[in-house]
Amino acid sequence: MPRLVIVSNRVNVPRQGGNAGGLAVALEEALETNGGLWFGWSGNVADERVQPPKKTVHGRVTYVTTDLSRQEYEEFYTGFSNSTLWPLFHYQLGLLEVSRKSFGGYLKVNAAFAAALATMIRPDDLVWVHDYHLIPLGEELRRRGLKNRIGFFLHTPFPVPEMLVALPGHRRLMKALSAYDLVGFQTPDDVRAFIEYVVGEARGGVGPDGWITLYNRVLRAAAYPIGIDAGAFARMAAEAADAPETRRLLASLHGRALVLGVERLDYSKGLPQRFEAVERLIEIRPELRGAYEFMQIAAPSREDVDRYRALKRQLEAAAGRINGRSSEFDWQPVRYINKSYDRATLAGFYRVASIGLVTPLRDGMNLVAKEFVAGQDPSNPGALVMSRFAGAARELKAALIVNPYDIDEVAEALGTALTMPREERINRWRSMWGVVSGNTVEAWRNAYLRDLSAGAELVRGKETPAAADLAGQSPVDGGIGPLMRHPERRPAASTGLVG
Ligand code: F6P
Repeated sequence: MPRLVIVSNRVNVPRQGGNAGGLAVALEEALETNGGLWFGWSGNVADERVQPPKKTVHGRVTYVTTDLSRQEYEEFYTGFSNSTLWPLFHYQLGLLEVSRKSFGGYLKVNAAFAAALATMIRPDDLVWVHDYHLIPLGEELRRRGLKNRIGFFLHTPFPVPEMLVALPGHRRLMKALSAYDLVGFQTPDDVRAFIEYVVGEARGGVGPDGWITLYNRVLRAAAYPIGIDAGAFARMAAEAADAPETRRLLASLHGRALVLGVERLDYSKGLPQRFEAVERLIEIRPELRGAYEFMQIAAPSREDVDRYRALKRQLEAAAGRINGRSSEFDWQPVRYINKSYDRATLAGFYRVASIGLVTPLRDGMNLVAKEFVAGQDPSNPGALVMSRFAGAARELKAALIVNPYDIDEVAEALGTALTMPREERINRWRSMWGVVSGNTVEAWRNAYLRDLSAGAELVRGKETPAAADLAGQSPVDGGIGPLMRHPERRPAASTGLVG
């Protein structure tokens, strides 16, 4: 296995007392195995100029992080990444901000990252780039002569072409994506949206076994639904059941059922609608008043982006309104907490929650839902109310699946969950646990890396048919695609590949 190079906007540099999540641990394990490099932003903003990259070595892994200048931060991070791509990829066209300046800054930071990274990459390294911040990175590396296998994984949803074309630079972005050998998405829906763009907008093509021709390059796209380290999380939650924080939480509930929401404070999470649904529950199920409390933990996030600050004010007002209208002297329906807790504390909270309320308007996967499932007591599990628009809904079919825009439906589902018999909760939980414990983050990582190592080798350095040759081909009928002309490129069989 070659050395692995991971590139992501945030880098999990190990530190004492660190609290790495399952994804970071899974990536670190892969880096440790054959030695590796993890490159990205340090999280620091330098006032004057970009500082030279900082190198830290832990075991067989080298972490290299670079600062951003104030201007880069504004154009690349708060600008194009989080005010343009983030709303667009989460189907929030009304919040889309378009600015040539920030797009330029985004491209420049990707070029600067590539320039710094290219010198550190060895010829047979496997390069794995993560997420929407870094779409052009692969193209920039190729521009610098890299012939390595380079893969990309998008952690967010990928929008249907009808939405994507609202972005003035969509062609430029998709051309950049074509520089990768393997583009991984969270769900088959995302792959389908990508293929629709390839065929309908870019006049590219798809062969019967999934090889895609896009802007004169041949690549593959597939769904790799990300998971969690289910066993470790379940153990952490079982242990945390007895932790002081969990005991204090339980004591404060006075026997009431806990309805729990946990996320970053982000408009894609559907929090205003969720608060409304809780308000509606109070109206439509008056007999349940006083039997539950809704606790929303909303960790501060991207506070330099206007839209996030506005959401914070909106939620403060909503929590105050609901409590003001509905509280009794001995009952308050909403606890709204605008801070973050470490994973172990959250695991304990999941353990004692009766309902996990996960209702994003759109989400690539949503690992909170999977952690909630893993955190439950198998003999008396809580119920999960889950948005149909989270990638995880494709897998967690035994949850109560709702449309988060339909306030009545969410309120009704909450009522159903609060009164669900234990046997039904156990049956639903068993089904969800089967999925969560089967499709772990380790399995996700291994599947992706196996396909990246296996497939790209076949593509590298080969001449590819012009996209125009394949224009009009549908993903299903295939026709005379690259596979017909180059049968030796047939990829190793793998689950989830298009075609
Ligand atoms: O899940 C998407 C994502 O952007 C991750 O890449 C990131 O770690 C997380 O959200 C938190 O966002 P940010 O890095 O902007 O603080």
